Amino acid sequence: MRGLLVKTTAVPILVLLLTLSSSVRGGKLQMRRDLEVGRVARSGSKRPIIIVPGLAASKVEARVDDEYEFPAGCEGTAAPDEWHLTWMDLSSIRKVDCFAHKLGLVYEEAGETSQGGFGRLRGVLTRVFGGKGSEKGTKVANRKGVEVRPKEFGGLGGITNMLSAFGTTFAVDKMTSFVRGLQRHGWVEGETLFGAPFDWRYAPTASSKVREDFNRDLTALVEECFRKTGLPVVLVSHSLGGLMTTKFLLSKPGWWKQRFVATFIPMSVPWAGAQRSTQAILIGDNGNVPFLPMNYFGGLQRTCTSGLWLLPRKAFWDADYVMVETPEKNYTGSMMGELLEDSGLPGQASIYRKEIQQLDGWTNMRKGELGVNMLCLISTNVRTMSRLVTPSLLDLTRDPLTAPYTLEYSMDGDGIVNSRSMRVCENFADEVLEFEGVGHRGILSSKEVIRTVANAATVQ
Ligand SMILES: *[C@@H]1O[C@H](CO)[C@@H](O)[C@H](O)[C@H]1NC(C)=O
Repeated sequence: MRGLLVKTTAVPILVLLLTLSSSVRGGKLQMRRDLEVGRVARSGSKRPIIIVPGLAASKVEARVDDEYEFPAGCEGTAAPDEWHLTWMDLSSIRKVDCFAHKLGLVYEEAGETSQGGFGRLRGVLTRVFGGKGSEKGTKVANRKGVEVRPKEFGGLGGITNMLSAFGTTFAVDKMTSFVRGLQRHGWVEGETLFGAPFDWRYAPTASSKVREDFNRDLTALVEECFRKTGLPVVLVSHSLGGLMTTKFLLSKPGWWKQRFVATFIPMSVPWAGAQRSTQAILIGDNGNVPFLPMNYFGGLQRTCTSGLWLLPRKAFWDADYVMVETPEKNYTGSMMGELLEDSGLPGQASIYRKEIQQLDGWTNMRKGELGVNMLCLISTNVRTMSRLVTPSLLDLTRDPLTAPYTLEYSMDGDGIVNSRSMRVCENFADEVLEFEGVGHRGILSSKEVIRTVANAATVQ
């Protein structure tokens, strides 16, 4: 079992795929014919499944060069010019400041260097951005000298975590349970089961290289699966992965989707954002790991544009619903830019207003518009954050561990994402299935959910 999950190189995948196509499909001739007519396939055949994981659920590797300046105390924590696993790697995560420095995104005001800090002044900044058109405003990028890439695109090693101890092998996270569940139903890594990890720090904005990389790599993987098995693929995605996949599908022409994609199965997707993301940005989110302080990853999380993308989207909540409450001001869904600014995060506020706010193409999406058959899975009835209340936003971002705040909860969600947000897919999915009392990550290890996905991915 362990060997299966760990092994992933391009060559064995290729060999396995070739073997599969000729044995299952009865030789080359038969396969050719399948390709030509598109969707002819034997009943019971397993369609290839590609899994797109959620926020922080892809492993990423980093490489630093001479230009990278290690912060004090972090010298030598990465060998220069060598790719190394950074997330999740327990030893690098222990030195959280070094790790957050390397992975954290940097917000730079355009013109700041040439104009000697002029761009830093609030108020003046706005005029600079709106100016002659030569200015591009705030830019967000990797820290100088740092490169980041997802680990093992196409394989499962970049989305699963196994731990061996006491002579047995455990699934460390729920995605690994999901993968093992599908393997129990007969899907095989490299033949019919693939992973599509991505650099989850970035939202897929127009200027984001990550969007291009992801679209290029996923397009190639989908086409390769089709070419080798003769079957259109099933895209299964969890949480943020569902948003990434939807953006991906919206960018593809109709003929491509009809030919290569059988079904899209988004699970637990925050279509309209989640109130929990206000907490992740202002305070931090320890991912429910009990021995880590809530703000442990806060320094990194705050810089990720993906987190900004997950802020509640005004179109989907009541206009007067208060997301964050302070004595001076109540923040509704239309005030997320203001919230960031008032929290001492002007770079994030600028990027949010300029690039993130207009990112979603599904606000008015209707059934059939995505151009693929779509089965949306959601779960509800788990205690979920619904509002953040604090006397001071600035104190909170400055020192989340001592500043006072309270979080309000309701049962209307899956523990992370609010139901209202997940239910947006009712507008455009062909079918929506709801699982009671199953958590945001728990949905991945639910036997019922795994069976549902396996059924949907089997040729009837
Ligand atoms: C904010 O909303 C609460 C109710 O959620 C209300 O009691 C309070 O007066 C509002 N504060 C401001 C400043 O509008």
